[in-house]
Amino acid sequence: MNSQSNCRVSRRGLLQAGAGLVLAAALPVPAAWSAPSGQYRLVATPARARLAGPGRPQTEVWTYNGMVPGSLVHLRQGEPARLVVENRLDQETTVHWHGIRLPNLMDGVPGLTQSPIKPGESFLYEFTPPDAGTFWYHPHANSLEQLGRGLAGAVIVEEREPVAVGGDVLWILSDWRLTEEGGIAPRFGNRMEAAMSGRVGNIVTLNGRASEAESFRAGERVRLRLVNASLARIMALRFEGHRPVIVAVDGQPCDPHEPAHGRILLGPAMRVDLMLDLEGEPGRRYDVIDDFYDGLSYRLTQLGYDARPPIRGHALDAPLELPRNPLPEPDLASAERHRLTLQGGMMSMGGMSGMGGMMGGGMMGGGGGMMGMGHGAVWAINGVSMTGDGHAGTDPALVFERGRSVVLELRNETAWWHPMHLHGHSLRVLSRNGKAVPHRQWQDTVLMAPKDVMEVAFVADNPGDWMLHCHVMDHQMSGMMTVLRVA
Ligand code: C2O
Ligand code: CU
Repeated sequence: MNSQSNCRVSRRGLLQAGAGLVLAAALPVPAAWSAPSGQYRLVATPARARLAGPGRPQTEVWTYNGMVPGSLVHLRQGEPARLVVENRLDQETTVHWHGIRLPNLMDGVPGLTQSPIKPGESFLYEFTPPDAGTFWYHPHANSLEQLGRGLAGAVIVEEREPVAVGGDVLWILSDWRLTEEGGIAPRFGNRMEAAMSGRVGNIVTLNGRASEAESFRAGERVRLRLVNASLARIMALRFEGHRPVIVAVDGQPCDPHEPAHGRILLGPAMRVDLMLDLEGEPGRRYDVIDDFYDGLSYRLTQLGYDARPPIRGHALDAPLELPRNPLPEPDLASAERHRLTLQGGMMSMGGMSGMGGMMGGGMMGGGGGMMGMGHGAVWAINGVSMTGDGHAGTDPALVFERGRSVVLELRNETAWWHPMHLHGHSLRVLSRNGKAVPHRQWQDTVLMAPKDVMEVAFVADNPGDWMLHCHVMDHQMSGMMTVLRVA
């Protein structure tokens, strides 16, 4: 039992199960959070972390405040926040506050909303979060490498009135590709990978280290906040012996419901808040399995019950529902309708008709021959590829008058999964492949399966230029990105 990771990836970027588990010295306890102050200083800086666990090699990572994941940013709904980001990396950076509906100038997209923060410089982000919930922050500059080397942290915005639960637990799940020596594997932006599933790694960490078990007490109800901070790995989590209830998606409270087939689907950048009643037996352990990729399931961790007797004899019957956030409801009758078609990638010649057939023969053709495609583009939205992290002078794909209700039809014509993220707004998910979705939940990142057609709606109430892109970082960097303008 001394393998360095609990899951491994083959040369082709797929996961093999059963490589053994890390022995943790002690069961971790959930971190105690300090009270929200609204004031933070986040220093982007290189550091070292023992990702694979005690006794394993250290990894040179990039961090916020020397920690992986970065410092927890703990804010209060409706109260102003001031966050100073200092750049001690040797390259430019920015911070994007993923999912928070904030003023455009605070959105952290280089070129589009701010000048990048140069090495040695700082930038003050100031905003008042309108919504309570689970959000996260990450760079939007050289995103694939900066996120892939560890720059990510959670933002928890607390409700105005505290929610009645026994515990509030955060799991930031991150996927890393490490070498045998424990370093971050080089070659970010491999073209073949970019045209397929993206850079899937070989070790998954929970709050910054491979986890054997997470400690809980029987009889408790905990709010478990899941954040998928991976570059590309999609997760489908099963909690053996438990019946978690989804109470929020991407920070936005939803009708409490059990996940379909007991699997909690979590694409890159997505968050899910669960209410988890700990009805197992004291002293026992229960597997938490990720079985998203066919035949490649692995154990993420275990729910490790301590020996103490249950806190209560019967399940808590307090309501599960969280207070809703003040989201504007789109008026579907008067909404303008637009279509955004996702194109490109391997095995999609059919979907690329009229686009120069650059995928012919399965070769990534250097971007030649494709209208609107920039250097290294392998993906497009409506025939145009915006590559990189965001930049100035981009014509928006769509322009909305402020306050308009909008229905977007997202068509995935590719053979790959895409978690599509819109900045500055939340999207009400209306339908998938012509069928109404059961809870019409709000999301800022919508995971689309190959060939999916989805309808989402929102009120374009936040002025500015907003990115819409795939959150598989290789896909974003290589063209699956566009800009929507609210004027
Ligand atoms: Cu997590 Cu452009 O975003
Ligand atoms: Cu994608």
